This record gives sequence, structure tokens and C-alpha cells, in this order.
Amino acid sequence: ADVKKVLVLPGDGIGPEVMTQVRRIMGWLEDAGKVKFEVTEGLLGGAAIDATGGPMPDETLTAAKASDAVLLGAVGGPKWDDLPFDIKPERGLLGIRKELGLFANLRPAVVFDALAEASTLKLDVVKGLDIMIVRELTGGIYFGQPRGIETLPDGTRKGLNSLVYTTPEITRIGKVAMDLAMKRGKKVCSVDKANVLECTVLWREEMIKLQQEQYPEIELSHMYVDNASMQLVRNPKQFDVMVTTNMFGDILSDTAAMLTGSLGMLPSASLGDADANGKRYALYEPVHGSAPDIAGQNLANPLATILSFTMMLRYSFDMMAEADLIEQAIQTVLNAGIRTGDIMQEGATKVGTVEMGDAVLKEMDALAKG
Ligand code: NAD
Ligand code: IPM
Ligand code: MN
Repeated sequence: ADVKKVLVLPGDGIGPEVMTQVRRIMGWLEDAGKVKFEVTEGLLGGAAIDATGGPMPDETLTAAKASDAVLLGAVGGPKWDDLPFDIKPERGLLGIRKELGLFANLRPAVVFDALAEASTLKLDVVKGLDIMIVRELTGGIYFGQPRGIETLPDGTRKGLNSLVYTTPEITRIGKVAMDLAMKRGKKVCSVDKANVLECTVLWREEMIKLQQEQYPEIELSHMYVDNASMQLVRNPKQFDVMVTTNMFGDILSDTAAMLTGSLGMLPSASLGDADANGKRYALYEPVHGSAPDIAGQNLANPLATILSFTMMLRYSFDMMAEADLIEQAIQTVLNAGIRTGDIMQEGATKVGTVEMGDAVLKEMDALAKG
């Protein structure tokens, strides 16, 4: 089978625990002769700080650039919260996204039928939900200059961040969203705060221009972010693809996660543009963080990370059948009432991280045997 180079960054907290389950699934695919993975393990976040003093070692970045795709667990935790801002674990994650040019973050919120009742929302609000949040990932207020904390001559302290987008940054993320929508329901909702923020007035104007000039078949709508956050819990099925800025996308995707039952269910793909040689960097990671409150206790739901891996199979390796197999196995496991604590329901069987991995592997075996 042909060799896929994957850099695995387990990270901190529950990151290594959920990643172990993905590694077992990768091993299964190899044993089945479907693919050969050349896996490198690297350090990012707190784990990298402890080993090297910084959250994003050069070695990690070099390995990321040399691989076909990167799979990340999660970074951060209380142990590193009081470090200077520039060397916190989260800077490692933001750094790798920026260095690899991963401007497009795809966060699909899909509700498995078996989990429609695990949602805190009513069954018919979420049943059958399939939306895609496209979050801009390398610009906006996360990266805009000027930024920082300064002390004024009178002793007052001032904290400052800047929301900045240029036309190419807006157009390229708009294209990703509209291209995705063309293969789905052909509807894009662009989320902004154009009633208050000039930067997002430009965002809206560019989205309109892009749709008119290049995507006549797309039905483009606009929503202010405050309303969008409300509409996501009122009637999420009105949406197909949502496209928004870095920070709004961060917030709205955690909201969308709860429609699927748990933050432990939501995967993501962070993609760049192809370079001159046709190489496109890609990083796959769950939307959730390192969950310090449940770390090290075999409580974490590994499905968001396993589903991030299936996104890798689809987007980076074109291995659709294998991605389908894993997703089908997950569906069967959920239908059988096997649940980690975060998606637990009355009458279901509560299992831990490892046992959820066992269950998925067992169903993959069964499906492969037919
Ligand atoms: P979090 O996503 O880690 O946890 C929020 C809540 O969801 C917690 O109650 C947690 O137990 C639960 N949860 C998250 N993932 C789960 C899973 N797979 N299974 C079951 N329950 C799960 O967010 P937080 O607590 O705000 O942040 C904790 C740390 O993680 C911080 O240091 C933060 O900066 C970092 N963080 C990292 C990433 C990332 O690496 N991509 C994302 C978000 C937060
Ligand atoms: C996410 C996280 C990160 C973000 C943090 C940890 C830097 O919340 O991936 O959603 O805000 O992008
Ligand atoms: Mn987030």
C-alpha cells in the first residue's frame, strides 16, 4: 500500500488519551492492508514546554512541513496558565496554524441519530442536523496588530487587540465556504458584526462581491453574530454552510458542538492553499480542548478525534471507503447504546475512553467481515 506520512501531536490533558484510540484505528487500517502510515510523534503545547522550554519546537514545525498531514489532540492546562503569554501552550497551536498557512477551519456539526436525544435541545430541533461552520483561522483579532498590554504615563494600564482583515484573506475563506456549499445545499450564511465593526463591513462587501462574480448558484445570506448564536440554538437546521471570522467561529462552533450532544463529538480540519508544487498542508484536530477536569481518568470521549482522523482520510488521502467504514462503525456503536459520560443517556451503557475505542474497533472488524 502507499505510504502516508502523518505527524501525530498528542499534546496535553486528554489529548494523549484520545490519540491512543486513534493510533489503534490507524493500526487496524494498516493490518487490513488498506494503507501504510509512517507516523512521527511530536511535541506541541505544554508537553513541548516541559521538554524544550517552548510550546512549538522547530523540530515539530519541520516535521509538520515534511508530513502529508498532522493530527493533533489538544493543548493547554492549568499547569502552564501562569506562564508569560508568548510561551503558553496555546501559542504553540496558534503558531503552527499560522506557520502552515492553515486559514480554513472546517467544523462540521453532524448529529448522529442515536444521539439526537442526548442533546440538551429538543429532538426535532437537532435530529438530522448537518451543518458546516467555516472559520477563518489565521487572521482577525487573533493575529491583528497592534496588540498587547501597556502602561500609560498616568499609570493606567491598557489592553489592546485589533480586528484586521484584508480583501484576499476574506475572499479566500469565502471561496472555501462557497466551494463546500456547491457540493451541499448551496446555501452560505456569512456571520459578521457589520452594524458595529468596519472590518466586518468589508467582510460583508467582499462576500457579496465574490458570490455575484463567481458563485451565481449560491444563495448567500448575512447575519449578525449575536443573532446567529441565538438562531443556532433556536433552529439550527436553517443553516447549511456558515462562514465567519476567527473569533466568531471559535465561539459559534462550541455552541454548534452542543447540538451534536457534546463537545466530545465535534471534529475539525484546518487547511491551507496548495503551494506551487501542489502540496497542501492540513491539520486535523477535535474542537474541544485538553479538558483538565477529566484528564487521566479514562473519561474522555475519543470520537471527536477519531472523526477528525476520518476527515484526514477524506480531505488529505481521498480514502473515502475507509472513512465511511469508521463512521459507520461509530454509528453502530452509538446505536447499541455505548456511551462515554458526556453523551450518557438513560438505559445506555457507560464506558471509558479505551472501551469506546474497543467498541469502534470491534464494529470495524464486523463490518469488514461483512
Ligand atoms: P475544554 O474543551 O478543554 O473543556 C470544556 C468542557 O468540555 C470540560 O468540562 C470538559 O471536560 C468537556 N470536554 C471537552 N472535551 C471532552 C471530551 N472529549 N470528552 C468529554 N468531555 C469533554 O475547554 P476549557 O476547559 O475551556 O479549556 C481547557 C484547556 O484546553 C485550556 O488550556 C484551553 O486553552 C485549552 N483548549 C485547547 C484547545 C485545542 O487544543 N484545540 C481547544 C480549546 C481549549
Ligand atoms: C480552538 C481553541 C483555540 C482557539 C485556542 C486553544 C487557541 O479554542 O481550537 O477552538 O481559540 O482557536
Ligand atoms: Mn475553541
